[in-house]
Amino acid sequence: MFNKFRLGKKQEHSSTLRDKIEELKKQPIPEHVAIIMDGNGRWAKKRALPRVAGHHEGMKVVRKTTMLANKLGIKALTLYAFSTENWKRPKNEVEYIMRLPEEFLGTFLPELVENNVQVKMIGYKNQLPVHTLHAIEKAIEETKDNNGLVLNFALNYGSRAEIIDAVKQVLNDSKNGILNETDLNEDIFSSYLMTSEFKDPDLLIRTSGEIRLSNFMLWQLAYSEFWFTDVLWPDFSENHLLEAIEVFQKRQRRFGGIL
Ligand code: FPP
Repeated sequence: MFNKFRLGKKQEHSSTLRDKIEELKKQPIPEHVAIIMDGNGRWAKKRALPRVAGHHEGMKVVRKTTMLANKLGIKALTLYAFSTENWKRPKNEVEYIMRLPEEFLGTFLPELVENNVQVKMIGYKNQLPVHTLHAIEKAIEETKDNNGLVLNFALNYGSRAEIIDAVKQVLNDSKNGILNETDLNEDIFSSYLMTSEFKDPDLLIRTSGEIRLSNFMLWQLAYSEFWFTDVLWPDFSENHLLEAIEVFQKRQRRFGGIL
């Protein structure tokens, strides 16, 4: 049952927010938005709270952002929740983050289903704790027939490892006569990546003032528009997402050509 007491009431948007959404929808909305959700630890530190309190607050923002993205007609939202490098963090923090998908989906899965959201995941599944994987796989299964926003969790995801694995698979397929070397091109290479079913992100957002990619979708972000903000992820509001989209709509995308 949807636990509205622990994590907030059913999401409703103010009329100002609804007006802004309608205004933005008159211009092209990015189809795939990717977010590096950074700054949870600093948010907690500023409040003299343990780092994990920042992750918990960040989880609530995941819900708000997902619901708004769905309303805006964004087709896919990829959220960088845990990188292949994040295992270096203290054990208690890693364990806490690995419990969040269960808490999030345990609470909000009915709401995601109700709103036609489809859950997916990219990343290395085999190193995830069984309970984490189970929660994600259950959500993937229960939402597989939905055709609204795809909420794609990048969990234990690392782009360099993904590229190396794709190269290995390409070599293997070439050796086995499945792929002809002369046929290999960017589209075919993309089909070997974990993101094969997604179009490349149109917009990348990173919070907390860090201006780097941190091993996130290095191939896929080649022509994406970037929007960085100093706002820490737990403070990221609906208005920040709308602002990012407004900036995106003013950008001229040339994909290496001229206008
Ligand atoms: C980076 O901030 C954040 C993470 C490594 C974890 C992100 C996870 C969430 C926002 C919750 C995910 C929710 C679900 C449902 C999976 P940081 O800890 O590096 O912040 P800092 O740079 O301020 O220390």
